[in-house]
Amino acid sequence: MEKNKFRSTLLASVASVTFALSSSSVSARPEGATALPAAPAIENMQEVQFIGRDELMSYQDIGDFEFLYEPDYISALVQEGKLPPIWERLPKRPLVFNGDAMPDGIGRYGGTFRHTIGGRPEGWNWTASQHQGWGGINYTVQECLTRNGPMVRLKSEDSYPLPNLATDWEWDGNSLTMNLIDGAKWSDGDPFDSEDIRFWWEDNVLDENVPTRMNASTMGEGTTLEIISPTQIKWTFPQNEPKLVLHSMAYINGCPGPSHLLKEHHPKYDGNSYDDYTAAFPAGRLPWVSMGAWTAVEYKQDEVVILRRNPYYWKVDSKGQQLPYMNEMIFQLKTWGQRTVDTLAGNADFSNMENVPLYLEAVKESKSDDAQATLAFSGRTMGYHLYMNQAIGVGVLDDQMAAIRDLNRTLEFRKAIQHAIDGKAFAKAMSKGPFVSVFAGGIARDSAFFDPDATSFFPYNPASANALMDGLGLIDTDGNGVRNLPSGGDLIINLVQSKDSENEKLIGDGLATMMAEVGIKVNLKPMEDTEPTRQSGEFDWIMARAQQEYAFPNSGYWSELGPITTSSFEPHLGTDEHPQQLQPFEKEIVSILERWRDGVEGDEAKQLMSQYQKLFTENVYQPGIVQYPTALLINKRIQNLADGMPVLAYQWAEDTVIREQFWVYQDDQLDELFPGRVPGIN
Ligand code: GLA
Repeated sequence: MEKNKFRSTLLASVASVTFALSSSSVSARPEGATALPAAPAIENMQEVQFIGRDELMSYQDIGDFEFLYEPDYISALVQEGKLPPIWERLPKRPLVFNGDAMPDGIGRYGGTFRHTIGGRPEGWNWTASQHQGWGGINYTVQECLTRNGPMVRLKSEDSYPLPNLATDWEWDGNSLTMNLIDGAKWSDGDPFDSEDIRFWWEDNVLDENVPTRMNASTMGEGTTLEIISPTQIKWTFPQNEPKLVLHSMAYINGCPGPSHLLKEHHPKYDGNSYDDYTAAFPAGRLPWVSMGAWTAVEYKQDEVVILRRNPYYWKVDSKGQQLPYMNEMIFQLKTWGQRTVDTLAGNADFSNMENVPLYLEAVKESKSDDAQATLAFSGRTMGYHLYMNQAIGVGVLDDQMAAIRDLNRTLEFRKAIQHAIDGKAFAKAMSKGPFVSVFAGGIARDSAFFDPDATSFFPYNPASANALMDGLGLIDTDGNGVRNLPSGGDLIINLVQSKDSENEKLIGDGLATMMAEVGIKVNLKPMEDTEPTRQSGEFDWIMARAQQEYAFPNSGYWSELGPITTSSFEPHLGTDEHPQQLQPFEKEIVSILERWRDGVEGDEAKQLMSQYQKLFTENVYQPGIVQYPTALLINKRIQNLADGMPVLAYQWAEDTVIREQFWVYQDDQLDELFPGRVPGIN
């Protein structure tokens, strides 16, 4: 094991202090802007122990194992002839997680793993962009060509996406040939092969009528896919070796669904409508079929989703035990706040702690003698942007919305808004602890790519905000305390926010007050699910969690850094009717992202992200509201959690921690809700 200095600074909160002090090129900043002020250090940070790719995992011939293992209840079904023997269920060369790299070693079977989440399943058709419930269900059922999450454990020279359904690949100029896992099966025993990939790509991604996560141009305009054989595919890209596409082939973009089930409902094959296709597999249609370690067998609306081990799972440990170790995974459907509360109380096993108002109490509880969960902070890589919609026409419902779009596209207006945001007041209101800090927008301050010298911060200064808006002719002509638009109406702006978030409640109320102080009336629009609104662009402003893309821009989410496609960046979408009209600085951002996609490394990568940060913050592309750290909370009985796993890096922790290798000592195992149950069999 090696400790890698450069990468451990990613998570070191002290880094932010050094950064802020070292700012030198202040003169280069636009008028009114300063460096980003320092933020206090955070306790309870752990260091990651970095390992090599080959130490973590490999693919090995099934014949190399002297024995193969499965839980007894699965063996019993094999004996009854209800399941084929393990060597027929596993692929020829299963993916092997190396026991030596497991923090607590090779595990034992049994038990149930309990999540509490605020998400709700939409349905099982992720190929048509449905989600199965944010908070971990997606990650449990979707397996993708490559895998990003566990990259955080890898030494920097090995830090590129891990193989998954694609076992290995070779670049040849602008083409990429990938081998698929040979002989793996879906949880109903149907073979997984290149037809699943073809269907996903041709009949979904390339079919403009299907709403997909990946867009036809995400990996470059004109990308093509050729099927070479059932286990080999070949991509051709418009550019030479665009290495970042490997990130895009991971969750949530590159995850095929079971084509043998989906095809029957796809308009191309059965004449159904596209809407019917998307909705053909509602949450209650069970059991669902997946390539995941556990697959869903029971669902009760607003109560629970229960998943049981997939007897065809294609990953094993180095002893030859088929994974996962735990037989059952349950998702209690509650609220995001309850996720943390349940985990602290020992009623759930896992929480990404993001709700800042709970932090102090959580830290206190985790230090008590009978604490149920361990708690570890990662740096300030989370926060909020105020997304100001800069698309002309997209999602515009009336003249008022059109007028706000024009204002959102006006630099002086955006500067005024950033000056009107009092980040320090939020820091106090959200928590008494040292957690929350001001945010200039763009890249998070504890990201390895954050460059303080490239960052322009327009600090809280209502006088400047007022002067800028006066200068734009936004004057309160009727004396009602609200500025008027040039057309005469009041300057009223709708702000969409998520209902079930302590953070967003506090921030929304605060923003409404701060904006009122400078003569803008903000109407808050809390929603259960903001996703449809974000995707349709029907908003003036929306509160956007600044997440992994800003922490680690080389994650699968890099295309959300700017309007590089017509659908990847919510505050500037494009449609056939209303194509994107990029402002000059946005064009520069897009060309940076295109170079990023084409694969840059080391210093060049850092420089590119500095240029991005300079453009983003000088132009106040999307104002920053606050930044804060997150912490991972995991029940103490869970074995094989590696140190320092961030809540959010290349992916969310649900992917990063490799839940399929979690296990629990027998005495600590909780009773399974459906012992003996096998999806699709009994
Ligand atoms: C939501 C939660 C995150 C994480 C993701 C996983 O966004 O807020 O903490 O659990 O879901 O999809």
